[in-house]
Amino acid sequence: MYALPDILFLSAVLAVRAQFVPPSEGPLVASTNYVGASNGSLSKTQVVTGKAFNRFITIWFENTDLSTANSTTTFDDLANQGIRLDQYCSLTHPSQPNYVASVGGDFFGMWDDSLCHIPPNISTVVDLLEEKNISWASYQENIPFDGYEGLSFSSKNYVNTSEPDFVFYVRRHNPTIIYDSVASEPSRLSRHRNFNDFAADVNASALPQWVIVTPNMLNDGRNTSIDYSAQWLEYWLVPLLNDTNFNDNSTLIVLTFDENESDNENNCVLTLLLGGAVPQSLRGTTDLTYYTHYSLLSTIEANWGLGSLGRGDTNKTLSNVFSFVAEATGYTNVNVSSNDILTNATGTIPGPLNPVLYVPFTAPNTAAVGAGGGPVFIGPGMDTSFTVAVAPSPVNLTAQNKTVPWLGPRNGSNAVTNSNGTSGSGTEKSGNGAIKMRGDIVHAAAFGAILSSVAAVLA
Ligand SMILES: *[C@@H]1O[C@H](CO)[C@@H](O)[C@H](O)[C@H]1NC(C)=O
Ligand SMILES: *[C@@H]1O[C@H](CO)[C@@H](O)[C@H](O)[C@H]1NC(C)=O
Ligand SMILES: *[C@@H]1O[C@H](CO)[C@@H](O)[C@H](O)[C@H]1NC(C)=O
Ligand SMILES: *[C@@H]1O[C@H](CO)[C@@H](O)[C@H](O)[C@H]1NC(C)=O
Ligand SMILES: *[C@@H]1O[C@H](CO)[C@@H](O)[C@H](O)[C@H]1NC(C)=O
Ligand SMILES: *[C@@H]1O[C@H](CO)[C@@H](O)[C@H](O)[C@H]1NC(C)=O
Ligand SMILES: *[C@@H]1O[C@H](CO)[C@@H](O)[C@H](O)[C@H]1NC(C)=O
Ligand SMILES: *[C@@H]1O[C@H](CO)[C@@H](O)[C@H](O)[C@H]1NC(C)=O
Ligand SMILES: *[C@@H]1O[C@H](CO)[C@@H](O)[C@H](O)[C@H]1NC(C)=O
Ligand SMILES: *[C@@H]1O[C@H](CO)[C@@H](O)[C@H](O)[C@H]1NC(C)=O
Ligand SMILES: *[C@@H]1O[C@H](CO)[C@@H](O)[C@H](O)[C@H]1NC(C)=O
Ligand SMILES: *[C@@H]1O[C@H](CO)[C@@H](O)[C@H](O)[C@H]1NC(C)=O
Repeated sequence: MYALPDILFLSAVLAVRAQFVPPSEGPLVASTNYVGASNGSLSKTQVVTGKAFNRFITIWFENTDLSTANSTTTFDDLANQGIRLDQYCSLTHPSQPNYVASVGGDFFGMWDDSLCHIPPNISTVVDLLEEKNISWASYQENIPFDGYEGLSFSSKNYVNTSEPDFVFYVRRHNPTIIYDSVASEPSRLSRHRNFNDFAADVNASALPQWVIVTPNMLNDGRNTSIDYSAQWLEYWLVPLLNDTNFNDNSTLIVLTFDENESDNENNCVLTLLLGGAVPQSLRGTTDLTYYTHYSLLSTIEANWGLGSLGRGDTNKTLSNVFSFVAEATGYTNVNVSSNDILTNATGTIPGPLNPVLYVPFTAPNTAAVGAGGGPVFIGPGMDTSFTVAVAPSPVNLTAQNKTVPWLGPRNGSNAVTNSNGTSGSGTEKSGNGAIKMRGDIVHAAAFGAILSSVAAVLA
């Protein structure tokens, strides 16, 4: 496929230590580094009570092996305040399919980071939450304005202002916006917010009940290192843990990584459960239950008694519920070991986003019963009779000189409204010399540009 070993070799050469630079004066202070100023906080909504928590915050980091993260002081200190999950695995490589699966229950055969969109008949966690009036938002540190649908956005390199604009935001780490069922509804689209909005929402005590946080491309470790992310955590998360507008006694915070770094190993990542909802008696413990990114769905389904998506979220092998939540909700997990389930395959899984093993989007398993016990959500335009069982065999579109129909922006999207964001112009190399490479590839052209920037660095 791609010449990954060479890239990984360069990674080892180039992953130099970077000095963390805070993007703002604090996590609740607005900054022009986040681009658009906030236009006000979300409105406060009635809290929908869950059985084990009332707020669920997932904070995403990038591309780090479990053992690497596990040997970092900051992650270790945080683990001692919460629960360390030592058998939590990602689902495939590279980034985008992992993020997509965490909110939709499938990665649909996807094996790259290309600009794509998922048709409106495919449901997500947003449908399940809104059915119960549970508020939600996706906080993307450097998304330039609310609901921006471009592939990426480069802005002033605040780490070193002598360097060119830097790609701080990428769509591939913003999963809900990739689904047309979310992006085509303005009220949903506007819930993709930047960190100026985050500050406004927390300051107004209006942080929603289901929240994704994606730090920018330096802070999430994507182009830096685990030590850089650790410093960001000390700057951003540690003070927020004491702020009841963010973390109160019914908040569950999940720190996780999209995928591991070493493709030739199984794909497990360090994940920590933090926050006031973690029972006192379990703080500082390690949980060896097998979990995957689908557990992020099954856990909230169990907690709030939601319906399901009838996809990976209802595959019992892959979707154990975080144990203390399983206990509080009466859900029975299965006993499996990460050694028995390899999730490091890429490109070999058929689906509507796999050009060489293409099948159309099929219906979910409408007979599935997820951890919340509710029905499978069926969105408008879903042909429930078009199941995996009746779908045609996979075809090789590449051999027919065709591409999958879902590449490119959503019809009617605002993806090309800003010259900063159209092509991902700007560099993914950080201003202070840190560069970390891996198979997290946007598309062939960008890949070429990355290779030339690597060549330039080596020269
Ligand atoms: C992670 O660190 C903890 C505490 O040091 C240790 O008990 C555990 O075995 C480590 N896990 C892995 C996979 O290295
Ligand atoms: C959600 O809110 C709407 C509007 O306030 C209300 O009509 C509906 O009954 C609520 N649904 C649930 C499940 O609470
Ligand atoms: C707030 O509104 C202004 C004017 O429409 C816009 O330029 C800016 O990007 C908005 N901010 C966000 C975070 O969307
Ligand atoms: C990109 O955005 C930054 C900050 O918003 C601005 O200073 C710069 O001029 C923009 N570059 C282009 C090419 O539009
Ligand atoms: C948070 O609160 C704990 C105890 O309540 C205290 O020990 C700690 O220093 C506080 N941390 C910050 C960053 O304020
Ligand atoms: C959690 O906090 C709320 C609001 O501050 C309080 O009413 C409640 O008693 C607390 N619950 C526990 C178990 O501490
Ligand atoms: C996946 O991980 C297993 C176990 O470490 C390894 O044997 C296998 O070669 C890996 N597969 C790929 C495609 O790298
Ligand atoms: C559930 O996941 C396991 C492990 O990947 C897989 O073997 C099995 O086929 C899946 N079940 C269904 C119904 O898709
Ligand atoms: C979902 O919608 C897409 C786009 O219209 C269509 O190709 C696909 O067959 C539909 N799938 C189902 C199961 O309805
Ligand atoms: C698909 O077709 C391309 C181009 O002919 C070929 O290189 C590739 O190996 C094929 N893949 C599969 C899975 O058949
Ligand atoms: C494949 O499609 C491209 C662009 O449409 C065209 O330039 C090329 O000639 C086609 N190749 C074959 C083998 O049909
Ligand atoms: C900032 O970037 C400039 C231009 O690349 C470089 O010469 C300088 O050394 C950098 N400063 C630091 C502190 O890295």
